[in-house]
Amino acid sequence: MKVPAFISNILIRRGFSRLRAVMDKTRNEDWPAKRTMDFLFSKPAELITPWQFREEMEQLADELEKLRPQVVVEIGTANGGTLFMASRVAADDALLISIDLPQGPYGGGYPEWKVPVYNSFSRRKQKIELVRDDSHAAHTFENLKKSLGGKPIDYLFIDGDHSYAGVKQDFEMYSPLVRPGGIIVFHDIVTHPDESTNVYKLWNELKTGYEYREFVKDWNQKCFGIGLIRMK
Ligand SMILES: C[S@@+](CC[C@H](N)C(=O)[O-])C[C@H]1O[C@@H](n2cnc3c(N)ncnc32)[C@H](O)[C@@H]1O
Repeated sequence: MKVPAFISNILIRRGFSRLRAVMDKTRNEDWPAKRTMDFLFSKPAELITPWQFREEMEQLADELEKLRPQVVVEIGTANGGTLFMASRVAADDALLISIDLPQGPYGGGYPEWKVPVYNSFSRRKQKIELVRDDSHAAHTFENLKKSLGGKPIDYLFIDGDHSYAGVKQDFEMYSPLVRPGGIIVFHDIVTHPDESTNVYKLWNELKTGYEYREFVKDWNQKCFGIGLIRMK
């Protein structure tokens, strides 16, 4: 039997209230990478399940735990799962900025009412800033620089526009803000059958110019795959 839309909306909103309650209760706790990933792929977190393979994301979470970023910028918030992970493994006083274009391509963004849920991810003294705008717009970039207040980015996650031109633009605009030793991470580096999903083309051009890592479950999986470069 099909559940009417208004009932499923009520259930979803209840699920998010429960999630917020967990966030409020655990705000001052430590979240090592293992705990973070176990929670993220559990039933209570099903409304924020990331669009990622667990095996690949676990390796990224381990890297981030070592880096303990103070400043995180994410392009592509969507369900909030990758923002949640970043908030758990970032420094206790980290600034996390996540950009997503409402109804954007490659995922569609998220509705306004999820804003308080995503803000509730902040732990201890962290600050989360949600930017609901186009990462390619000059004003988005200028506003981001104001929010950073001169601080460099430690971890930049690029998972927004997946076209070749789009991902290249994100890289060219935001990579100069990443500090030497900081990391830039791309999602969807595996060759994709959809002609408009071309992150892999940029990845293959870029990676050899840097110290790089690839977290890929299976090179024949036709989607996903995480690529990481370290800035010189
Ligand atoms: C694949 S989803 C992100 C998935 C998320 N990081 C995760 O792993 O769960 C891509 C998101 O990027 C957003 N997006 C696409 N183009 C964008 C742009 N130019 N600026 C900002 N966000 C964009 C879409 O709205 C979509 O929500």
